[in-house]
Amino acid sequence: MTITKFLPVKSDGVLQMQSVSYQSPSNIALIKYWGKHGLQIPKNPSISFTLNTCRTTTTLSWNERTQHKDDYEVKVILDGKHKPGFEPKIHQFFGRVAEYLPFIKDYAFTVDTSNSFPHSSGIASSASGFSALALCLMEMEREMNPQMSQKAFDQKASFIARLGSGSGCRSLKGPLVVWGEHPEIKGSSDIYGIEYPYQVNPVFDNYQDAILLVDQGEKQVSSTVGHNLMHNHAYAPSRFSQAIENLSSLIPVLESGDLDQFINIVESEALTLHAMMLTSNPYFILMKPNTLKIIENLWQYRRETKIPVCFTLDAGANVHVLFPQEYHEDVQDFVKTELSTYCQDNRYIFDTVGNGALKL
Ligand code: PMV
Repeated sequence: MTITKFLPVKSDGVLQMQSVSYQSPSNIALIKYWGKHGLQIPKNPSISFTLNTCRTTTTLSWNERTQHKDDYEVKVILDGKHKPGFEPKIHQFFGRVAEYLPFIKDYAFTVDTSNSFPHSSGIASSASGFSALALCLMEMEREMNPQMSQKAFDQKASFIARLGSGSGCRSLKGPLVVWGEHPEIKGSSDIYGIEYPYQVNPVFDNYQDAILLVDQGEKQVSSTVGHNLMHNHAYAPSRFSQAIENLSSLIPVLESGDLDQFINIVESEALTLHAMMLTSNPYFILMKPNTLKIIENLWQYRRETKIPVCFTLDAGANVHVLFPQEYHEDVQDFVKTELSTYCQDNRYIFDTVGNGALKL
């Protein structure tokens, strides 16, 4: 389906730039997106904290092409090395967005990219990577169409990022981004992310995320495979309604700062995501024994110290430990002395909630 609002407008602007660079962060969902249809349309709304230090930096450069304009030309460089293995994914992405950014066929591109987090960390770089690339492409469009408003730029950039990585459309802004239509969230959309539009209690300012790297290998199940397992899944319809309800419940919690309720919703969402994978056909266990050890330890620590720390999970074994900034010292000690023993090579990353992408 063509979204006419994002089709290119005729413009007289000339492209003078030859390259552009953006940094874009990763994000961690509180209400999870799991299940999609069509071209990356989510089956339920989701909301995430944008991260700060886990980032991709991308420089996009280009030369005008004189021939072969019926396909795309792109070279991918990761950490200074040519990676032809990543190019088919970018070709596929270009194929999806060319209708909205038709100039893509006129140039031979180089995508020079690097991540602030280690490649083997098990942290997916697709959200940060595709959002950075989408912003670079949008900067080209803006130069050719300087009348474009900031709002139109932001919406279309998120829309374009979504076509590369669904959750990537939540990485451009921060600290909280909603993606997917929700009856109680004004302006929410299935085709781009929006900044969470309501009041947020100061307890969530600079919220902390300690990412515990339990399993640093390639993901056991790609998110494409995972999303597909939600088709014909016996529990899918109730899961999609539950996500809508959980997001409704989160709205007053974000305003009041009721951390008991926050913890309840966030941990339940993480376990439900994993429950969907446990009960799909074929079925998968994405946690590792150390994932459970971390959760048990964290629960015990919370009971004993009353520090409102909680966990969330992606579709993998790593654990994100979320907590308010005021407990940074205590939780840092706890992670270093106890939880890190369950991490592969004792590795973890301290991150905080951030404000989204940055043009360099
Ligand atoms: O954007 P994808 O297709 O990599 O899916 C991301 C799915 C989760 O990370 C598990 C949940 C989410 O909402 O980010």
